[in-house]
Amino acid sequence: MQLSNEELKIKIDKLKKKLDVTVVAHFYQRDEVFEVGDITGDSLELAMKTKDDDAEFVLFCGVGFMGQSVKVLSPQKHVVMPKIACCSMAKMIDGFMFDTAVKALNEAGIKNENILPITYINSDVVVKAKVGEMGGLVCTSSNAKRIITNALKEGKKILFVPDRCLGQNIGKQMGLNSCVIGDGSDLKESDIICFDGFCSVHQLFTLDDIAFYRKKFPGIKIVTHPECDPSICDASDFVGSTSQIIKYIAEQPEEQKIAVGTEFNLVNRLREKNTYVLSSTKPECPTMNETTLQDVYDTLKAIDDGEPINEIFIDKDTQKWAKIALERMLAL
Ligand code: 13P
Ligand code: SF4
Repeated sequence: MQLSNEELKIKIDKLKKKLDVTVVAHFYQRDEVFEVGDITGDSLELAMKTKDDDAEFVLFCGVGFMGQSVKVLSPQKHVVMPKIACCSMAKMIDGFMFDTAVKALNEAGIKNENILPITYINSDVVVKAKVGEMGGLVCTSSNAKRIITNALKEGKKILFVPDRCLGQNIGKQMGLNSCVIGDGSDLKESDIICFDGFCSVHQLFTLDDIAFYRKKFPGIKIVTHPECDPSICDASDFVGSTSQIIKYIAEQPEEQKIAVGTEFNLVNRLREKNTYVLSSTKPECPTMNETTLQDVYDTLKAIDDGEPINEIFIDKDTQKWAKIALERMLAL
């Protein structure tokens, strides 16, 4: 018999009290899953807070690269995921494609010693390891500007993977030249050379959506995530990571109308504050929505039964270099 969410929550609470487990949930999770999270936050906060937590098991409700990052930073922990769902952007680049991107720079006359790779945290652990091995590091949407500012001090070309939007948005903010591999630009003329990856969810927001809301509610603020297209971020009043968006909205007067361009579950939770979804199409991340409360319960039950399921394992070499790339970020 199918249990209701309330019944599942009671069972989950009981198991959480019994087991040495911390439940971690990203803002994009379904409400009922988000509510059972002991640690919640944006990608950077989840990586940092979970690293400092000392439970034996981490039950991670999010997408695959997030669980991998926790395992890389805390290899002694058992990291299990109710669903090992893969972010579609992270899937756009693997180790082979990363090598191909480096080759494109080489062919444009940029030698490896003059390339500093930076990977958005939304990437597979293998890509993070390749980046670490080449002397590069990881960034998230909340610290990308700081990471790139620091990286530029090395006087190298930045190869930014996989999100072309984040790379170009930060480049614009900083007054730098950026391009996307394959867009016909002379790569040597660019400070930030981006891989051609993107988030399909954040591509849903259009200039028409912004025009619609500005006309309907004059004075409305448009708030977007830096995974949106640069044309959308340019037309926004505020651009930030999920945590930065929540903070910005909390600081606005109650009557301020705000249209938000990021994943639906988060925006829907902010609704009472005069907040609107910046799209006529529901911007749902299919992979973030895969995890259900039943999955959380089943995963806890498996730990209780002594047979954990969906545990993340990473080979030693990948672990070593990915950890270096992540720790370079945390050091900043
Ligand atoms: P944040 O780091 O802002 O939480 O973003 C994660 C993400 O996947 C956005 O699509
Ligand atoms: Fe990946 Fe986009 Fe989903 Fe974020 S919203 S997890 S970038 S597919």
